[in-house]
Amino acid sequence: MSSIHVFPENDPDTLVRASRDPAEIAAILREVGVRFEAWEASFSFTPSAPAEEILAAYREPIEKLCREGGYPSVDVARLAPDPNDPAWPAKARAAREKFLEEHTHGEDEVRFFVHGAGVFYLRLAGQVLAVRCARGDLLSVPAGTRHWFDMGTQPDFSAIRFFGTPEGWVASFTGDAIARRFPDADALTRGAPW
Ligand SMILES: [Fe+2]
Repeated sequence: MSSIHVFPENDPDTLVRASRDPAEIAAILREVGVRFEAWEASFSFTPSAPAEEILAAYREPIEKLCREGGYPSVDVARLAPDPNDPAWPAKARAAREKFLEEHTHGEDEVRFFVHGAGVFYLRLAGQVLAVRCARGDLLSVPAGTRHWFDMGTQPDFSAIRFFGTPEGWVASFTGDAIARRFPDADALTRGAPW
């Protein structure tokens, strides 16, 4: 389920706002200039579905968004637990750690979740907004926004990624350890006390 939890950036123990209502999530994010939309999730995919099948199913909204945002290319990022792969725990840890520290990009980070979920933490206007994106959610993190992404200890998601230029998507790490002070994706997914 999608959710938002808002904290003061210097006080991870104080929850300022929280919601699981997509319209309210979109409204809270709009206030800080971030685009969030809950698309009609007309298709459901198994983690092993070919990327071509996913892209074909959402062809129309993808093409519209690419035109609007000037994104020349898309792909599908995916991670799913594989009980038959002994290396899965190490792979999951490595994938998770890659974007777990605060960073920025030179262009918007645009993601549409077709399966599973992950949490984007956006540091904006003196706050940290933790946005749990689930199936059907589109989030566009504006270029230059300090953020991090937590896929949790058991990564399980497929997301369409929209790209401008390959260089624009390189992560520039801020060196600030802020991410470690906030509740992680597992805690937010568990719910209480959030
Ligand atoms: Fe990022």
